[in-house]
Amino acid sequence: TDQDLVLADVRRGMIPAHIYNDEEIFRLERERLFSRAWVFVGHESEVPQAGDYVVRRVLEDSFIISRGEDGQVRAMFNMCLHRGMQVCRAEMGNASHFRCPYHGWSYRNDGRIVGLPFHKDAYGGEAGFRRKGQTLLPAPALDTYRGLIFLSLAPDAPPLREYLGDFAFFLDYYANQSPSGIELSGPQRWRVKANWKIGAENFAGDMYHTPQTHTSVVEIGLFREPKAEKRKDGCTYWAGNGGGTTYKLPPGTLEEKLRYVGYPDVMIEKMKTRWSPEQLDVIGRDGFMISAASVFPNLSLVHNWPRVEDSDDVLPFISIRTWQPVGPDETEVLSWFAVDAEAPESFKALSYKAYLMCFGSTGMFEQDDVENWVSLTSTAGGAMARRLLLNSRMGLLADGTEVVAPLPPEQFAGPGEAHVGYGEYNQRHLLTRWADYLERPIEKAAQVEVSGVP
Ligand code: FES
Ligand code: FE
Repeated sequence: TDQDLVLADVRRGMIPAHIYNDEEIFRLERERLFSRAWVFVGHESEVPQAGDYVVRRVLEDSFIISRGEDGQVRAMFNMCLHRGMQVCRAEMGNASHFRCPYHGWSYRNDGRIVGLPFHKDAYGGEAGFRRKGQTLLPAPALDTYRGLIFLSLAPDAPPLREYLGDFAFFLDYYANQSPSGIELSGPQRWRVKANWKIGAENFAGDMYHTPQTHTSVVEIGLFREPKAEKRKDGCTYWAGNGGGTTYKLPPGTLEEKLRYVGYPDVMIEKMKTRWSPEQLDVIGRDGFMISAASVFPNLSLVHNWPRVEDSDDVLPFISIRTWQPVGPDETEVLSWFAVDAEAPESFKALSYKAYLMCFGSTGMFEQDDVENWVSLTSTAGGAMARRLLLNSRMGLLADGTEVVAPLPPEQFAGPGEAHVGYGEYNQRHLLTRWADYLERPIEKAAQVEVSGVP
């Protein structure tokens, strides 16, 4: 079938151009991918107190992610059990109850139904509609890693830790810098007329676009590159269910390297207690500083160290984002600023500035990137794109062997596979995984009846 051909091409690094703007492909992604993959929706630091909630989506399904009075974080489908109105219309807040705006049914922040207006007159009281045991529909699966909250629409989803696999090793650089972990602020939220896969691929492994797309950012001196850090000597790594890019730093001790990207000693001391010898070796011994990454399907992370203000000093920032599909040609981006919760306040303030300069709706990198992706997406929707196979084979010779061999363990202490220099290894990994999901049909989900009948 057509679909088999598309998937076979993707697996050899030849990408049918229309997958970046195709209704039929999007239908398959909804049905076979987003219905069972783990999707990042937020972080526990966004809902620290009982009653705190945020509203997040997995495709078009809206969920209230709320911390109950018992301290537990739950995700509840944001649809009233009565006639289906969204019970929570705000994006975030603190509430003991949610009251549906349509007819006024109300729910506790753990999802249990408490109030039905005119319960006695309209339903004959508990004899007609028994409230006990009725709750907003819970998300089929919720799991966390280092406070990062993921949902899956598949009740039989594997544990998140298993899904992440060895990528957890790399997630720790972002989310485990001190015993308190990270705290998130935001998200900024905006929509771009671009396919969701493009951003995920770019953050996973596109070191190749930086010198071209982001020339102006380098020219105005926001970035220290290419003075000392060498992008092309960095490596891309893939481990478990995600992969990312690194910069090769100038020689020095672990401490010198972390100071070089702007971390103060108080933070470095904590990192040394949180990271394993292998995690420390990737930076200290091997000299690779973690940069952007993606977790399949649509979570990306950034770690960069631009100059702040007019100073010669650079400062690192961390950002987390999701590429939330709206349609085949539109993506809602949610972009959070993340920082170690124990970082000095002055560091947090400057790191936030560094983030805003680079990413988010005002970020200079963001503007450059999106221009390409919007243009690519609109072109991918036409007739000619159906005849074109894009070349995503960088790093491979014609016979399928790799231009450079993976780094041996003496040069890369991390798990998975890492290659020095430019290559599209990670883009191929992401799309191969995508093809694996798309070719596997899904069983119809069971329906939940809300009868309230005693
Ligand atoms: Fe919510 Fe009727 S739809 S109370
Ligand atoms: Fe970019």
